[in-house]
Amino acid sequence: MRSLAFAAALLIAGPAAAQSALLHGAPWQAEIYSNFSGWTGKDKARPQYAREERCGGSLIAAGWILTAAHCIDQDQVDRGWRVRLGTLDARDGGVTYRIDRLVTHPDYRPETKDGPPLNDLALLHFVADGQTDPSAADHPPIPIRLNGSRAGDGAIGTGADVTVTGWGKNKSGKGARFSPMLREVDVQTVSCNLAPGYRGKVNAAMLCAGAPGKDSCQGDSGGPLILTYGEPVLVGVVSWGIGCGNGSNPGLYVRIDRNNYLDWIGQVTKANPKLNRAN
Ligand code: ARG
Repeated sequence: MRSLAFAAALLIAGPAAAQSALLHGAPWQAEIYSNFSGWTGKDKARPQYAREERCGGSLIAAGWILTAAHCIDQDQVDRGWRVRLGTLDARDGGVTYRIDRLVTHPDYRPETKDGPPLNDLALLHFVADGQTDPSAADHPPIPIRLNGSRAGDGAIGTGADVTVTGWGKNKSGKGARFSPMLREVDVQTVSCNLAPGYRGKVNAAMLCAGAPGKDSCQGDSGGPLILTYGEPVLVGVVSWGIGCGNGSNPGLYVRIDRNNYLDWIGQVTKANPKLNRAN
């Protein structure tokens, strides 16, 4: 199904072929973006998708996106940051929504000089507004199932085949570029404690995944890490890393399973009064 070019890496630019196959494979993929338009100077000359701050996210229930806490704060919600769904193209495709509620994990702690963020999760509730294509209701995006939501689901060990998707940068450091088209990369889960940069700084609520030269990168944060085979299941959320794809330090993800965050996600999405209103 997937072309080899697309299986390559988020780090390696792929041709524009086989995009629809990928969208078909990641219909829960969301983009969180700022709609700031007052750019000046050399930023003004760059395409909007390339200068926006942005993150990924996953549609997990009607009206709810799961993303990373470090991706967005209430200030940015108030300034009109939006959610885009249903497209491979971050430039102008899909359908966009207004964010009307941000719930950051109560125990979120931002990254420090020497360690990753803790409990790096946030839930966004979104609604249609004047900028939302009214025909969107005819083809609603498909949520992804959360690991742990079924009796047979367990915690993910090492050596599992997982796939990450995003519009993030093609490398870390100078000359890196965001991708206008959604990309995916297949990686394997590995022990976080074997990574020299992570030892002693990670906890059991984190998951590490990588492969030589393959990784997520800046701009992919908040996006989905799913099982590569079988029924798609969300097992992680892009959170942190030291460089991108540098070999010794894999990508760091927030773990999603019955012992990690499933209860919090369920409580927030079910208790929210907006869900019980006709909207
Ligand atoms: N924190 C980054 C972001 O905001 C994601 C970093 C992921 N890094 C990695 N090497 N996998 O987009």
